Amino acid sequence: MQFPNGFVWGAATSAYQIEGSPEADGKGPSIWDTFTTVPGAIEDASSGGIACDHYRRWASDVDVMAELGLGAYRFSVSWPRVISDGIGAVNHAGLDFYDRLVDRLLERGIEPWATLYHWDLPQALDDRGGWPSRDTAYAFAEYATVVADRLGDRVKRWVTINEPWVVSKRGYLYGDKAPGHRDGKEAVLAAHHLLVAHGLAVQAIRRAWSDAYVGITLNLTPVVAASDHLADREAARRFDGDANRWFLDPLSGRGYPIDVLRDYDEAGWLDDERDLGGDADSVLISEPTDFLGVNYYERTIVGDPNRTEHATIAVPPDAQVTEMGWEVYPVGLADLLVDLANRYSPASIVVTENGCSYGDSPGNDGRIHDQRRIDYLRGHLAAAHEAIRGGVPLDGYFVWSLMDNFEWARGYRQRFGLVWVDFDTQARVPKDSALWYRRVVEGNGLV
Ligand code: FCB
Repeated sequence: MQFPNGFVWGAATSAYQIEGSPEADGKGPSIWDTFTTVPGAIEDASSGGIACDHYRRWASDVDVMAELGLGAYRFSVSWPRVISDGIGAVNHAGLDFYDRLVDRLLERGIEPWATLYHWDLPQALDDRGGWPSRDTAYAFAEYATVVADRLGDRVKRWVTINEPWVVSKRGYLYGDKAPGHRDGKEAVLAAHHLLVAHGLAVQAIRRAWSDAYVGITLNLTPVVAASDHLADREAARRFDGDANRWFLDPLSGRGYPIDVLRDYDEAGWLDDERDLGGDADSVLISEPTDFLGVNYYERTIVGDPNRTEHATIAVPPDAQVTEMGWEVYPVGLADLLVDLANRYSPASIVVTENGCSYGDSPGNDGRIHDQRRIDYLRGHLAAAHEAIRGGVPLDGYFVWSLMDNFEWARGYRQRFGLVWVDFDTQARVPKDSALWYRRVVEGNGLV
């Protein structure tokens, strides 16, 4: 299974999940530094305080990437490292870190893909209202300008925001992610301001570098009704509207989906549609991009319509699941990509995350035989290949994750890495899947 020439093969991480050193060189606190101190917020009561110690081990981590033959590396920039308070003075020492990282990547022939926001909002901005406040979007645009000015001569691939659904709904409605609020109105405003922030950042990056290739990353899931029953189909519509269409529609210039506006109104989450900015914001949000980033982990089977916020999500009884409890369903990736291409015709799609959590640890031979991860990745790459054959403009694929790391509220118990991390010694050991992936990259496809 050969992939098209020039197909981008990479692996992804994010700042808070790997860097550690939360106070180094003038970094300000982020909402994750705060949230991880809340009792019960993190399953194993851990934090990203040390994580993979990547802030100090970045150079040897790039060597590991080079050994794996990666063509590209998707990392995120920590906003509070670059602007400690979120707005105002630039912390040059923090920016220097990414500058060095980018140089080293390029020296090793690895293309840097920078994500500007992967969830670690400066705490100072949360104190001023966070994403439910429109000012946060303006602050983001300034931050985007600072980072683009400094790195954009070498970084040509940009993701503005990672997973606005998770940031807004999990952070402000379900409360299991920072800042841990439970308020539907805040969540809807947050989602809107994240999209506004995205539009402003696209403009800012383009203003600085006309050759930049910019997109946003959404977590998308094909939604399936649990049965043909009308109520289940209605629940599926609602879920798909909230998770997928609420973002895809305005990004592609169609404005917010009317049925979801009605759902939000019924739930009491929307006081006044004017809070969503009207035509001017629609234009801003649909600022043309170069690619759509897709994070795919599983499909979603939805039933039980009796609750407005939370549809019950089922995993079929015979399904294979990862240690996150997520169903292994590679066909869903092909379904999703084909559907996206048909409904939204993006110029280019990149799978910016796909991967699985399995805890396989070093055996007696010192190696990590994570055959289930190989099977998972192989299945999803086959699905991606099928989508490309069907005409989907898929141009790249990033494994989540380069290495085991701090998996948010699940702490260190979930291991998504191609590379094993011993969190006591910080040793890195490429798992069998990493060695397998190296051959995929080398051969530009599956053997
Ligand atoms: C995605 C996140 C990423 C990681 C994976 C497992 O939602 O973007 O940081 O946690 O899930």
